[in-house]
Formats: sequence, C-alpha cells, structure tokens
Amino acid sequence: MTWTPDSWRAKPAQHLPTDYPAPEALADVEGELSTYPPLVFAGEVRTLRDSLAQVARGEAFLLQGGDCAESFKEFHPDNIRDTFRVLLQMAVALTFGAAMPVIKVGRIAGQFAKPRSAATETIDGETLPSYRGDNINGMEFDASVRMPDPQRLLKAYGQAAATLNLIRAFANGGYADLRNVHRWNLEFVAGGPQVDRYRALADKISEAITFMEACGVDGRDVRAIREVDFYTSHEALLLGYEAAMTRIDSTSGKWYDTSAHLTWIGDRTRQPGGAHVEFCRGIENPIGMKCGPSLDPDELIELLDILDPKNEPGRMVLIARFGAANAGDGLPPLVRRVKAEGRNVVWSCDPMHGNTIKANGGFKTRRFDSVLSEVGTFFDVCRAEGAYPGGVHFEMTGQNVTECLGGAQEISEADLSSRYHTHCDPRLNASQALELAFILADRFKETRGANGF
Ligand code: PEP
Ligand code: CO
Repeated sequence: MTWTPDSWRAKPAQHLPTDYPAPEALADVEGELSTYPPLVFAGEVRTLRDSLAQVARGEAFLLQGGDCAESFKEFHPDNIRDTFRVLLQMAVALTFGAAMPVIKVGRIAGQFAKPRSAATETIDGETLPSYRGDNINGMEFDASVRMPDPQRLLKAYGQAAATLNLIRAFANGGYADLRNVHRWNLEFVAGGPQVDRYRALADKISEAITFMEACGVDGRDVRAIREVDFYTSHEALLLGYEAAMTRIDSTSGKWYDTSAHLTWIGDRTRQPGGAHVEFCRGIENPIGMKCGPSLDPDELIELLDILDPKNEPGRMVLIARFGAANAGDGLPPLVRRVKAEGRNVVWSCDPMHGNTIKANGGFKTRRFDSVLSEVGTFFDVCRAEGAYPGGVHFEMTGQNVTECLGGAQEISEADLSSRYHTHCDPRLNASQALELAFILADRFKETRGANGF
C-alpha cells in the first residue's frame, strides 16, 4: 500500500479532535505550517538512529525525559534551562555508572497533544470537551477555551522553535561543556542529598579532565567534552501537525517528520490498522512505541513488521509501561517473543504511566518507590530474557515541584498541593530525577560486565 504523509487520513484514528468548529480553518493552518522551516534536520535524525543502533547492540544507554505536556503558561527560558540541566546531570551520573555513552532525548519542543481517557469532562453539571493539550485547546474549564482552535498550532510551532533554538545554544554554545560540570548546580535543593553526591561526581570528572589536559589533550579540541548531542521527541498524536511537518530530505529522497528527532506512538493509539501506525510507518525517524498490559506478543510482532519491515537497529524503541505491580508478569512474554523473532529493537522503560494514583483529595500522583521498583523489574526481566535494558523514559522537570511522592525529600501527600503545576501527569522534580539517576548508576556499576552488558 502506498504511503503518503496523508495516507493516515483514510484509517480509523483514536484520540484526534473531531470538533474543530471550522475544519477549513484547520486545513489552512496545516497548509501554512507545511511551508514553515523544519525544526530538525534529516542528518541529525540519522545520527540519532545510529546512536540508537548502538543502544540496540548494548553499547550505549538511552535517557529520555521531560514534561508530560508542555504548556504555553510554563514556557520560560529558565524552565527550558532547568530541564536541560537536570537531564545533563542525570546523563553524567549514568555515563559514569554505566561507563558507556548516554543518548539524551528530551520530551520537549513539541510535546503538547495528549490522549485523554474521556472525551468530555463534567463539573457541577456542566459538560465540556476534555483538555487535549495546549496545541489543541485550553485547560481552563470554559466553553470557549475548551473549543479546539487551529491558531494554537502556530503558537505551538513557535514555542517549539524557540525552545529548540535555546537548547541548541546550550548544547553547542559552551553551557554543556563538561568542564562546566560544577556549574550545573541545583541551587534550590542546596544542602539536599543529591547536591553532595553530585558535587562528589563533578569533582571526579573535573579531576579526570585536568589529568587529561595535563597529558596534553586540550578539552577545547574535543567535541565530546565541549558539546553534547541533545535530541527532541514527542508523541506523534496530532497527525495533522506531524503531516504538515513531514518533508522529503533532498539528500536521501526519503520522508522525515521534521517536528522532532524521535516521535512515539502512545499506548492508546497503536492499533495495527490505525492512523497513527500508518503515519509512523512512512517516516524515517526512529519510532518509539509504548507497550502496556493490553499489548499481546503476536500484535507486537505484527506492529514491528509494519513499522520496521527491514528490522533495522535504531528504528524502533519499545517503551515498556506496565506499572510496578504488573511488569514482572506482563513484560517477559513481550521481551521473550521479540528476542525469539530476532528483532533489533531498543527496550526502554517508562515507569511513570503504569504507576499513576490519586491522593490527597484527587491529586494525580506517583510514588518514587513505584517508579524505582518498575525500573528495577525492567532491568531484571530484560537480563533474565537475555535482552539489553537499553533506556529509561521519565516524566520530569527541572523545577522544584511537588507532584510525585517520596524520594529523599520525602514529599508527602500533604505536600502535593504546595507546588503542583503540571498540565497533565505528575512529574519527578529535579531532585527526584537526579536521585533516580544516581540509583541507576549504582546498579550499573554493580552489574557492569554481567550478562555481557
Ligand atoms: C505519555 O507518555 O504522556 C502517555 C500518554 O503515555 P502512554 O501512551 O504510555 O499512556
Ligand atoms: Co503522561
């Protein structure tokens, strides 16, 4: 079947808004977007694919993280810097622990649209369309704000472009230089346990660089010290936007979705005959796919046949999201089958979406311990099945929010209301995210070389 950037339109689509008041206005905006500059370049996407192929071979580790949903309200240079900085800090800890490259991918610069469990929301007898993400409608419970507005797509594009511009400046303009490792400090958790651990790690890295420079290697000449490769990703949910950003690369003659380096298919939109799978099969970007309890091994192989018919390492990232209680039973059949079929995938773990609970009068939250426990089970299952646990996928922020429970800061149910800012799911705060990275790094150190990893 021929693929085009619009062939998905003939397939059944879950979770796409169908209530735009003026569909022609949406088509106009999509047309306009299709003339805008790409946000990422095909060459960068190919480099990410090569790096993910390294992960698939067990030679690198994938760190993916960021907001559940970016928002217009939280758009601020400090927020971008803080998320970027915590991801760098986590990557440094993991690189040190795993003694291998860490591939850094943000849920950033385009992570707006959200699948929702219910199409409508009722408050005090009034029923309105659910909030679907800032590129579709607004969160405020007001009929006119909840109406999908195509102009929001242009605003989201602008925000993604500005975000990416700042990230590129940080990544290549000196901020991310490893010789600055001491300056990426977390002033707002000063005195906390992560700060001391981080300082100790930064000391070791500085010492190693000083030694290297004493031997005659100038850090300024070494790109891997001076700059980082940082990639963007989001869920390919709002297909009209993705299609508008999809272009033929003149070098290879192939189609790339230039809205992000990596896009993923959500747990609720991965039907083999559905629109989201149809769209993703035709683009060259690496494709993530969420794998939850409802996915059976036969269907997983069917999806891999559609999305990755040539079985190319670096193409598919399977993101397990079972929940701490279900991962031990649910994940092994999938990992075993993928292994038996000889598929070259990256296995990653999203320990967030299967661990959402409600606490303290309705706050959606997650326990740090459940997150940690699911990651631990993921590592154990992969190793037991002879697969490589290749990455982690977190909802997190560089801000000092109180959205997830526990961690060394011991955030309690009563604390949730004090700094609960997320537009969708609860995120690990900077301290919790870094703490997790340190725990994972320790595990890597203990098991380095075990089972060939
Ligand atoms: C998400 O990653 O924000 C998400 C909605 O995840 P899932 O599709 O796994 O539920
Ligand atoms: Co989420």
